[in-house]
Amino acid sequence: MSSAARLHDRYPELGRDPLPIDPYVSKDYWEREKKHLFKKTWLQVGRVEELKKTGDYFVKKLHACDAEVVVVRTKSGDIKAYHNVCAHRLNQVVYEERGNTRKFFCKFHGWAYDLDGKLTGVPDEEFFFDLDRCKYGLSKVACDVWQGFIFVNIDPEPALSLADFIKPMYEGIEGYPFEKFTSCFSWTTEVNCNWKLALDAFQEAYHVAYVHGHSIADAIKADDGGSLHPIDGECGEYHRRLSMAGNTRTVYGNPQAATQSAEAASATIAHAAKERPIASAALRAGAGKTKLSFGPEDLPEGLNWTGSPDWIFDINVVFPEFYLSLRPNYYQAYNFRPISENRTLVDARVYYPEMEGAGGRFYQEYMKVALRDVLLEDMSTLERTQTATETGAKSHIILQDYELMCRHGAAVVDRILDAAEEKEPA
Ligand code: FES
Ligand SMILES: [Fe+2]
Repeated sequence: MSSAARLHDRYPELGRDPLPIDPYVSKDYWEREKKHLFKKTWLQVGRVEELKKTGDYFVKKLHACDAEVVVVRTKSGDIKAYHNVCAHRLNQVVYEERGNTRKFFCKFHGWAYDLDGKLTGVPDEEFFFDLDRCKYGLSKVACDVWQGFIFVNIDPEPALSLADFIKPMYEGIEGYPFEKFTSCFSWTTEVNCNWKLALDAFQEAYHVAYVHGHSIADAIKADDGGSLHPIDGECGEYHRRLSMAGNTRTVYGNPQAATQSAEAASATIAHAAKERPIASAALRAGAGKTKLSFGPEDLPEGLNWTGSPDWIFDINVVFPEFYLSLRPNYYQAYNFRPISENRTLVDARVYYPEMEGAGGRFYQEYMKVALRDVLLEDMSTLERTQTATETGAKSHIILQDYELMCRHGAAVVDRILDAAEEKEPA
């Protein structure tokens, strides 16, 4: 894209001004986000593969909603969510992070709830006063599934259905075979920074040449001037997405690495051998060993939406904090769950197809470590940036054209908070 055709030109409503730092540091802004945004929107909490059997459950703490939810597969096969709060004296009903159960038993006085949240057992029930069990089930949380991703909404009556929320930008990626990427590795950490500041580091490529200068910078295709930037970017009412171009002669930059045969990957293997011999050896060992054949021709039309031959992956940022990056050979699903105005839980998961044989396992282990290192590089600036922002030495941050997604993220939050407060009685 030439400098004449700027991404910002498409979104004049977002402006081009520097952004104030208040949303990244202010306790007051954080309280507004909790009240008007996080307690009112759909939040991704897991995948259906985590709840395979009846009674499988997991618990998610959602600080931004002042809530903890239990998500469970019921007897009918549905996935439901409840507040983790006993109706008696409000103990948490579930203590374990995940498991399988027939019923939920409160450990305080033994009340029992079935998987549909109904109160089914009360010890010494005769000593209560006309206790109507029907009134004292677990409190339901809105829960729905999109492409195998489980979302909850703390608002008992969500303003939008999950489908209406997601589809305007992401209908075109439906059909991506998420369920076939069954080999998952993950990292979880708490970082002392604002959730938007963390997410921003993942929704622009401007940093890649520096933060990832020794790891993956050569895997991103540079323009004629040597700059690394997306092929294209789009901003929706809530969500946003970026499409990236890769250097297919590198292992990381080849979207078919390991899904294609060693013969087809020979140019990548040979080129990588010079600069990155271990990556090259790993690909040689793992090429063609995936149990999933999913080439560019199989991509749903919403991936590589510009049709670029250099395409490597898309970054989809599902509002507010779910980063979903898709390629033909693996995908990344990262959440940046806010804990406070300057603390964020980063929950990063990478999903691979199953690999065959020792060579396939070696390749996968190599990629696991390589992606971990890239993630650590991304983490390396976050706490320093937060600390520096909190000094107040600067009142604003400055964004270039290809940092549009950071601007859009901030603008959507602002818009939601302002609109909600406008409706509030004075
Ligand atoms: S608080 Fe749960 S049974 Fe008493
Ligand atoms: Fe990065």
